[in-house]
Amino acid sequence: MRIKELKILIQEYDRIEELPDLEQKLLEKARTAAENAYAPYSHFNVGAAVLLENGEIVAGNNQENADFTDGLCAERVALFYAHATYPGTAVKAIAITAKNKNGFLEEPAQPCGSCRQVMVETEFRFKKPIRIILDGKNGIQVLNGADSLLPLAFKPVALD
Ligand code: THU
Repeated sequence: MRIKELKILIQEYDRIEELPDLEQKLLEKARTAAENAYAPYSHFNVGAAVLLENGEIVAGNNQENADFTDGLCAERVALFYAHATYPGTAVKAIAITAKNKNGFLEEPAQPCGSCRQVMVETEFRFKKPIRIILDGKNGIQVLNGADSLLPLAFKPVALD
């Protein structure tokens, strides 16, 4: 038996102003998107903004449904829209934020497992890591690559 230890590097920023200009802009777009979420059932508004290699920014937010399982998370709305609109264009970064009835979250927003899996697929598709920016009022966390969010992910190579 061997023990394998995985290391995850997280960059932490106290304030949005500490991020590079383009990432500040990306996070602002995510925050605006969160304001426009359709979340009448959970009252949990999530916003995601995707920076593409061609410089375009695409934003998305969660879209809920009275049939709860028919809704979709902000991250996947943004990523799928990005892939549908710019099919050959790699994703450089994604910023994610969320607010509940008390306002934007204190701790960095955490994407769900399905959204993490879609980020892994996107990285595989374009063979490039995505910079992942997780917004929180107490601090912003930045990860370089979805492997940090979903270690031991299911990857397409398993299908070969
Ligand atoms: N939600 C997201 O949009 N992204 C996540 O990563 C986690 C959850 C949404 C789904 C649902 O509309 C609401 O948050 C409560 O789960």
